[in-house]
Amino acid sequence: MLRKKLSVLLAAAMVAAAVVGCGGADQAAAPADNAAPAEEAAPAEDAAPAEDAEAGDAEAGDAEAAPAASGDVITVGYAQVGHESDWRTANTKNYQDVFSAANGYELSLIDCDNDNAVQLEAVRNFITQQLDYIIIAPIETAGWDTVLQEAQDAGIPVIIADREIDADASLYDAWVGTNTKNEGVTAGNWLAEYLDGKEANILVIEGSVGASAALGRSEGFNEVAEQHSEWKILDSQSGDFTQDGGQEVMESFIKSYEGQFNVVVCHNDNEAYGAMDAMNAAGITYGVDGDVILISFDATHDGLQYTLDGKINCNVECNPIQAAVVAEVIQKMQNNESYDATTLVNDEAFVAPGIESQYATTMTEDILAGRAY
Ligand code: AHR
Repeated sequence: MLRKKLSVLLAAAMVAAAVVGCGGADQAAAPADNAAPAEEAAPAEDAAPAEDAEAGDAEAGDAEAAPAASGDVITVGYAQVGHESDWRTANTKNYQDVFSAANGYELSLIDCDNDNAVQLEAVRNFITQQLDYIIIAPIETAGWDTVLQEAQDAGIPVIIADREIDADASLYDAWVGTNTKNEGVTAGNWLAEYLDGKEANILVIEGSVGASAALGRSEGFNEVAEQHSEWKILDSQSGDFTQDGGQEVMESFIKSYEGQFNVVVCHNDNEAYGAMDAMNAAGITYGVDGDVILISFDATHDGLQYTLDGKINCNVECNPIQAAVVAEVIQKMQNNESYDATTLVNDEAFVAPGIESQYATTMTEDILAGRAY
């Protein structure tokens, strides 16, 4: 227990020192509005160059995290968003693989079923159980201050993963995730390149209300849209990151806007599958040979299969393989070493065969074969 407290104090001192070095807590802690592009998301660790902080992608697939240095089992609680998407399923499996008994961990993973109250309760239970570390993939950005303060008062380090929160960075210890605003900007830039000045009448199926992944993608895409007077966003509704949600929203869009739209943007692959079902049922064609340009996010295996098949024009990745990066942060905390308070897991984008883009890679069978999730 004493060792843990010392470790926490040292880690807190190092973060504080690093924050000063980076010019402010907000900057170091990946702000919820994610205004900084990936290159500017400075690591809090004084010694590490920016490239190192973004090296998560290279290490993210490595499930063989180092076992607990002391030989003690490290207890970790993960308050997971839910099971709304293929992305989420891959992310859960990745945590189970990395935070395994063989790697020296005891993982309590709670599926919070997209319910804020359940997620807060899960975190409070982790605090009551006095787990060594708490990881939170926040359902929504808001409402975290009180419970984070409780964790801090109990001396339990907290790592925010995947999504972002609106809370003072001093209330948690590290953040690991993707730059969702950049994902939205990439989708917008690709669309502008593809349309090359042609008109766009756009329907957006957003992710869950209040989730930073939805807020960031909308913000980034809208920023590009604002630069194009020939684009019009006809409507934007939440599909809750689910296939059923995507289908329902698309069915209602078709009732209201049939014949008026030529672009559909879905905030994740599952929503895109639902939108495709709705368009199929209505006889609306989409993809490279269709009337509607379809953009998706996540780039999971099935999403990339549809991209390879030309049904999704552009698919912007959000990498779910983040657990090894989180484990590395924990190992450094455990060993009283300095660590990055902010680590970006890199994303790329993919386009259907026949499309060449400066913003995305053209899909091939080989890329698909290498996509395990
Ligand atoms: O936070 C990441 C997002 O959450 C993914 O894009 C989506 O599929 C998931 O539900």
